[in-house]
Amino acid sequence: MLPTTLLLLISLVLSSNAQTRTALSLNTVTRSSQTSFSIPGQDKLTITLALCSSASPRFFISNSTNNAIERDPGPDGGEDVREIDLKDGFGSWTGAFPSGGVLAVEGLPPGASFEVGISNDSPLHEIISTDPLFGDSTSNQAILFSHNFTNPLLIASPQYPNYTLPAANSSLPDPPSSPPNLTLIVTQTSSTSLLRTACFLNSSAVSTTGAIVNSSLWLRGPQDGWRTEYLLGGLTPSTNYTAFIIQDSHKVSGPINFLTKSASFACTLIHALPFCPSTTYALPLPAPPNTEFPIYDASTIPTEISTQLIGVLSNFTTSLTTFACGRDWYSPLVGCDDCQREYRKWLCTTIFPRCTEPSPSNPTFLTPNPSSIGLTNAGPTPTSTPSNQQVFSALLPIPTSQSPSDRLNLPYMSSPYTQLLPCIETCTSVDRACPPFLGFRCPSVMFNGASSYGFGYIDGAEGDERGGVAGVAQDRWGNIWCNTG
Ligand SMILES: *[C@@H]1O[C@H](CO)[C@@H](O)[C@H](O)[C@H]1NC(C)=O
Ligand SMILES: *[C@@H]1O[C@H](CO)[C@@H](O)[C@H](O)[C@H]1NC(C)=O
Ligand SMILES: *[C@@H]1O[C@H](CO)[C@@H](O)[C@H](O)[C@H]1NC(C)=O
Ligand SMILES: *[C@@H]1O[C@H](CO)[C@@H](O)[C@H](O)[C@H]1NC(C)=O
Ligand SMILES: *[C@@H]1O[C@H](CO)[C@@H](O)[C@H](O)[C@H]1NC(C)=O
Ligand SMILES: *[C@@H]1O[C@H](CO)[C@@H](O)[C@H](O)[C@H]1NC(C)=O
Ligand SMILES: *[C@@H]1O[C@H](CO)[C@@H](O)[C@H](O)[C@H]1NC(C)=O
Ligand SMILES: *[C@@H]1O[C@H](CO)[C@@H](O)[C@H](O)[C@H]1NC(C)=O
Ligand SMILES: *[C@@H]1O[C@H](CO)[C@@H](O)[C@H](O)[C@H]1NC(C)=O
Repeated sequence: MLPTTLLLLISLVLSSNAQTRTALSLNTVTRSSQTSFSIPGQDKLTITLALCSSASPRFFISNSTNNAIERDPGPDGGEDVREIDLKDGFGSWTGAFPSGGVLAVEGLPPGASFEVGISNDSPLHEIISTDPLFGDSTSNQAILFSHNFTNPLLIASPQYPNYTLPAANSSLPDPPSSPPNLTLIVTQTSSTSLLRTACFLNSSAVSTTGAIVNSSLWLRGPQDGWRTEYLLGGLTPSTNYTAFIIQDSHKVSGPINFLTKSASFACTLIHALPFCPSTTYALPLPAPPNTEFPIYDASTIPTEISTQLIGVLSNFTTSLTTFACGRDWYSPLVGCDDCQREYRKWLCTTIFPRCTEPSPSNPTFLTPNPSSIGLTNAGPTPTSTPSNQQVFSALLPIPTSQSPSDRLNLPYMSSPYTQLLPCIETCTSVDRACPPFLGFRCPSVMFNGASSYGFGYIDGAEGDERGGVAGVAQDRWGNIWCNTG
């Protein structure tokens, strides 16, 4: 028999613990500055944590059945105690809590708060595995895309005898009816690290910048999913920015970085062309007159350009369908629809040259000698990786005398500019997807190809897939090696 005082003491400890623990509810996000919580009983729970301010607290959980009378779990261990590690302010744990459990926080500074989500279904917080996408910038504008929030479209190939290819002047399919709620966060890049949590990014700790002039749903091609496209204005020239997307209040995609061009950059953005859905970059055309936010789209692009593009694509489609598409096969892997899609993409990068400028921090960022036989643009040692060797972008200065307005007979800029060459892969994928009788040929590095295409970035110089110095056309740090359209 215990003395009454001791009994009293035990019951006091019991009740004080029970009182200070906040009960977390299932499938709800709780924001708190408290340090002790009880977890509801479930056979399988996913606990997600998101720090809302810069701090380094530690989070401990226990699923012990005796949790009601136990001390809070902590760094000293104990029955069934685990620590949830946080990275960039985010942490998650999935496990069994058949009779509930306890979550305890150590070292949470006064005033700091965090979110905890308890779910028996999909996690309530998430770092989305696909990044936002940078379209392009001028000195004070940018085109940004969210991550894709749908899978790539599954378009059934047309079938014989009704083998119909998309029209040259094609239109976009209907957008999804209930897209997620997305919020774009853009801030000037600084040395302070940003947490990848929505409650941090949407707090006063992050000073957002620029103005979202417009946003709309856009599909960059049948092999991409739907994204939100944002037009940003009011940015500062030659500045490095960081962007995130918050989805449905608790999920985060990003960060990506991008640079604005210098104040003297003279090209104009183009976007929203249904017949060239991935053409969202700067074009060597002066700004259209009398516009507050200068940008070209399908209704303002000079008709000489769109008529030529659609004419060439119509004629190509006509030649292509002289082949018995869908009945005879020129390849077991690809059909006429793949050929038309790749040709469209290539044609768009050819008819719409992309304007850029050497990075201000590295003005020698030019292809050293693109007309040299056998050289790739990516730099003198194509086997080196970006981290240990400077990689050059596929930049080509276009003097006035060589403006594409002469070559294509189109109204492009008559002043000199720097072109970002198309990636050679835009050409080789046409070559691979199209029937040989069309006679489509790509240049090679052995014959001066690097003066018209970027070689060696995505595929290796010998054509080995993804064997190039970067493996991609652009990266999340704001580097763009060549134009994939
Ligand atoms: C606590 O979780 C661990 C691992 O998730 C599990 O092996 C153990 O059985 C759980 N304890 C109880 C009391 O359910
Ligand atoms: C985005 O596209 C990729 C493939 O390109 C796909 O794996 C991913 O599931 C898509 N995202 C969503 C949310 O559907
Ligand atoms: C042929 O296919 C197109 C598009 O797939 C469709 O719009 C059209 O109705 C079809 N025509 C016939 C005769 O089936
Ligand atoms: C988006 O937000 C609106 C109102 O803020 C809400 O009604 C809607 O359910 C949300 N959509 C999703 C997919 O969460
Ligand atoms: C914004 O988008 C809407 C609809 O897409 C369009 O009507 C409007 O002209 C756009 N505004 C600008 C400044 O681009
Ligand atoms: C950001 O915070 C404000 C209140 O401070 C809130 O109204 C808004 O919904 C939050 N946005 C997101 C994306 O969480
Ligand atoms: C393409 O189609 C749009 C309407 O869908 C039309 O306004 C435009 O003139 C067409 N462009 C050409 C070059 O035929
Ligand atoms: C398309 O083909 C027709 C007939 O062969 C030709 O007159 C026209 O110039 C071609 N259009 C383009 C843009 O090449
Ligand atoms: C932008 O800033 C980030 C972070 O400091 C850096 O990693 C990146 O290289 C910068 N991008 C450019 C193109 O300078």
